[in-house]
Amino acid sequence: MGEEEKKILFSAVQPSGAVTIGNYIGAIRNFVKLQEEYDCFYAVADLHAITVRQEPAVLRKNTLALAALFLACGIDPEKCVVFIQSHVPAHCELTWVLNTVTYPGELSRMTQFKDKSAKHAENVNMGLMDYPVLMASDILLYQAALVPVGADQKQHLEITRDLAVRFNNRYGQTFTVPEPYIPKGSGAKIMSLADPSKKMSKSDDNPNAFVTMSDDKDTIIRKFKRAITDSGNEVRFSEDKPGVSNLIAIYGAFTGKTVSETEKEFEGRGYGDFKLAVGEAVADALAPVQAEQARLLKDKEYLNSVLKRGAESAFRAARRTLSKVYRKVGFYSGE
Ligand code: TYM
Repeated sequence: MGEEEKKILFSAVQPSGAVTIGNYIGAIRNFVKLQEEYDCFYAVADLHAITVRQEPAVLRKNTLALAALFLACGIDPEKCVVFIQSHVPAHCELTWVLNTVTYPGELSRMTQFKDKSAKHAENVNMGLMDYPVLMASDILLYQAALVPVGADQKQHLEITRDLAVRFNNRYGQTFTVPEPYIPKGSGAKIMSLADPSKKMSKSDDNPNAFVTMSDDKDTIIRKFKRAITDSGNEVRFSEDKPGVSNLIAIYGAFTGKTVSETEKEFEGRGYGDFKLAVGEAVADALAPVQAEQARLLKDKEYLNSVLKRGAESAFRAARRTLSKVYRKVGFYSGE
């Protein structure tokens, strides 16, 4: 396929706390995989992060650390546009316009809004409610055809599609209607190690519930040893074994082994052996990523140059769509 025929892909991750292996398996891993096939835009979603309270100095640090993590995981800034969301003002500008075709009822019905409002009852702000419109703007600005995300973002992709179609119907063809790219099987939703009925989340109050991309080997092994498994002792993927099945999915993501290969490998060996092997596989896979991230973070000049170049490319692409939108809605251009 020639360069000019490549479709566009957009995705982002929030710099709100530690990045988990759930974020990696559900999203970042696919960012790397898809970069050859698509023209990719990858953002650090700092505008989204402030919808829940952040410590400013920590947010600043996490933002750069996440950009470095993208590169350390294998995202190639020569092939992809890597940037920080707040560096491109068009994200906020398009959000304003899209707000005028969005109904409060559809936002208040969003699962994530309901969950986060319950969790942060002291800080239910307009940004939290408007989160999906900002996310739609992220995607639609770049005319993205594909958006790799975990299963928890499916509803936000649906509203993005709805807003794109609604705007196109009202003002004429403006936006590409994007498709989600959600990993097949259990990689789409990695579950908590402490409660396999819940999603693994960086905002979990229990740090044993998740493994972060920066945990050291001892911590990783300890967390997997403690992981809640199910009754019985057989390493088998099945619906009535959510704990073990989740570990099989994690093991597969980091070793490339299929479910049946893993089942065979641990036949007759029990949970203890298996949990240790999962911990070791994850720690061994993360070690080089952590080393590369640390190296990059020491080279701030390089990181800043990548992010500056990324913001400039993103700005140009975003501006094209925003100008079109402004023209369609009837803003006087002054020309
Ligand atoms: P965030 O930062 O919460 O998560 C980043 C990505 O990780 C996926 N994910 C998971 N996948 C599998 N198992 C899990 N336990 C798990 N937890 C998280 C998420 O689905 C996501 O793909 N709103 C987005 C960030 C964003 C965005 C965008 C994404 C902002 N603008 C535009 C796509 C397109 C978010 O909160 O991701």
